[in-house]
Amino acid sequence: MGNKFWRILIVSVCIICFAALGAAFAQKKVGGGDVKYESKEKGAVLFSHETHMKVPDTKCNSCHTKVFKMKKEAKITKADHAEAKYCTVCHDGKKAFSSTAEADCAKCHKK
Ligand code: HEC
Ligand code: HEC
Ligand code: HEC
Repeated sequence: MGNKFWRILIVSVCIICFAALGAAFAQKKVGGGDVKYESKEKGAVLFSHETHMKVPDTKCNSCHTKVFKMKKEAKITKADHAEAKYCTVCHDGKKAFSSTAEADCAKCHKK
């Protein structure tokens, strides 16, 4: 078999490998990805690992597992908003926007 055949074969394999790697990286999500909380009363809340991991000095253990388990399971109530638990550990109006200020509700609750 000629040199040309091997060259085409090797180039083809490389293209396939790069395409597969590219797809793998494109899909790579940060931490637990987007966590969506459906809410009956107040509008769905989307928690983004990606935006939170961009906050300076944030590590996985800023939240896991002292504040949140590594599993989508938290049942967050309105009363929890006023206590130093779940999102309010940071969303207290100092470290991050407040969970109890009317003007900030819509930053988490969409529609
Ligand atoms: C700012 C807080 C925060 C940080 C930082 C954070 N997470 Fe999470 N993570 C959460 C929340 C909130 C949930 C959902 C917990 C719940 O609903 O009980 C979660 C859930 C998860 C889940 C489960 C997802 C699912 O759908 O069940 C995994 C896996 C996870 N996180 C991994 C990570 C890793 C890895 C890192 C570091 C790269 C990280 N997290 C950093 C807040 C955080
Ligand atoms: C470890 C601290 C920490 C915890 C816990 C945390 N956040 Fe945040 N969050 C931040 C900081 C810091 C910012 C950026 C500063 C700001 O916007 O005030 C932010 C920004 C956001 C934003 C705006 C950026 C975006 O992603 O759209 C939303 C929405 C948000 N957080 C929702 C949540 C929800 C929902 C939870 C609980 C499930 C949560 N956060 C828990 C620290 C935290
Ligand atoms: C930092 C993000 C964040 C902010 C800010 C926030 N909430 Fe929430 N809230 C949540 C999350 C997460 C839940 C739990 C999931 C759900 O039910 O939407 C929740 C749940 C609730 C619930 C219970 C809903 C249900 O169906 O059980 C009520 C009511 C509520 N929030 C009202 C408010 C009000 C009013 C404000 C503004 C004063 C507010 N929230 C601000 C994140 C936030």
